Amino acid sequence: MSVLEKIRTNLEKMDSKLEEEKKMNNDYKSDAELLEIDKEYCTYGDKIHSEPVPKIFRDCNGIYMYDSENTPYLDLQMWFAACNLGYKNRRIRDAVVNQIDTLPQISSNFLYDYKVLLSEKIAKANIERFNEKGRVHFNVGGSQATEDALKLIRNYTHKNRMFSFYGGFHGRTLGASCLTAGYRYREPFGHFGDEAHFVPYPYCYRCPYGKHCDSCNYYCVQQLRREFEDNCAGLYDQSTKQSSIGAFFIEPVQGSGGYIVPPKGYFKELKKVLDDFGVLLVDDEIQMGFYRTGKLWAIEHYEVTPDVITFGKSLTNGLNPLGGMWAKEELINPEVWPTGRTHSTFCNNPIGMRAGYEVMNTFEEDDFETQVAQKGKYFLDGLKMLEKKHKRIGMVDGLGLALRIECVTEDGYTPDPKLSHDILSEGYKGDLQYQGKKCGLILNKGSHYNNSLTLVPAVTISYAEIDMAVELIDQLFTRLS
Ligand SMILES: Cc1ncc(COP(=O)(O)O)c(C=O)c1O
Repeated sequence: MSVLEKIRTNLEKMDSKLEEEKKMNNDYKSDAELLEIDKEYCTYGDKIHSEPVPKIFRDCNGIYMYDSENTPYLDLQMWFAACNLGYKNRRIRDAVVNQIDTLPQISSNFLYDYKVLLSEKIAKANIERFNEKGRVHFNVGGSQATEDALKLIRNYTHKNRMFSFYGGFHGRTLGASCLTAGYRYREPFGHFGDEAHFVPYPYCYRCPYGKHCDSCNYYCVQQLRREFEDNCAGLYDQSTKQSSIGAFFIEPVQGSGGYIVPPKGYFKELKKVLDDFGVLLVDDEIQMGFYRTGKLWAIEHYEVTPDVITFGKSLTNGLNPLGGMWAKEELINPEVWPTGRTHSTFCNNPIGMRAGYEVMNTFEEDDFETQVAQKGKYFLDGLKMLEKKHKRIGMVDGLGLALRIECVTEDGYTPDPKLSHDILSEGYKGDLQYQGKKCGLILNKGSHYNNSLTLVPAVTISYAEIDMAVELIDQLFTRLS
């Protein structure tokens, strides 16, 4: 079935579905009514009001969202990378429905099958990848996974000072906000005693040291080594051989930081420094995990073994908020991490475990590694053509299906956050055209200068849908630059 046929079939389904919904559902409200209620009773503190008029959607399927007029929007954001296997994925849905019909509720202090089975799957996946035995601990989302990893590191090292990267994002709870680099995430909330020591990310296109990555010899890593070697820099005591830092929280490819892909050898170089000075490595895979980059964990591209991995988002394909951490046995065995070290009411919830188990099964049964690598290359090639065509695209880059477009001014390099914002808003209007049909485009933006469009398609995207995405992006840049 062609993309257009697929869209049309979905449209027809939507027409009848919405009409039925309107008739049957006493709660049905028009968009205008919803906006009125929202204005009066809903907080503006979350991100819904980032646009002057919040966007309302009524349905989703595959990689499309549908608005009240049944206009399809190709989604290159996918609930902030929480739905790598596409919306309404039948297989995950069926598993969850089966769980609802069998054991939907169970207190988190009792054991049941899928909690154990999912832990086993993740632990064994890591034995296979890193030759490292470990254990898994769950919680209800990404930020909570970061919190638990912080506790684990503090429990093991008795240190509360951490490294994190410029542009790093690890969540918005108070503990996680200490590791999230942007000051705007902490500014309204007073003093943060445990704020991380922030270190420059290998953002080579805009290197903070003004170097070039083909000739710098990992200058940024050497700078960090120098800080450790300097007895008066506050990181290390040469006489006791003790570092003041417990762990480095990293994203192997930065997510909110703008989908920045470090050079191939970077993390190996960094790990040497961390090992030399006794600092643990916490690998945040909350956004880049579950085949976003073509591997289960993005850190696999860099051939280093982390001490802890945090994960969330796409573990359940968005069907239940579930996150967690895996850690090496030494850090998390029952002797050092005994019963009750940390816990929450819903941490081991059965709907999430069942969804997660089915997501892992799906990844195990197909060759996502090859497929994502090939589709990612195809998509990036399309974006490179746009880079040549549009002066206001400074550069494009990506790893697997984690891709970015840097919006720049006429000079071809200066970041242009307004253009990235306008492109996003224009896509939401739903008045683009593809093969004679009206449609929209959902993008996300981020980065150190807020000028990058970050493309996060489902890893199940088809080649025809990639063509469609490239054409729609082309239309947006043609309109706005
Ligand atoms: C890398 C990373 N870590 C942590 C988080 C926080 O996850 P959550 O929003 O589920 O709390 C995010 C969310 O975007 C993220 O991208």
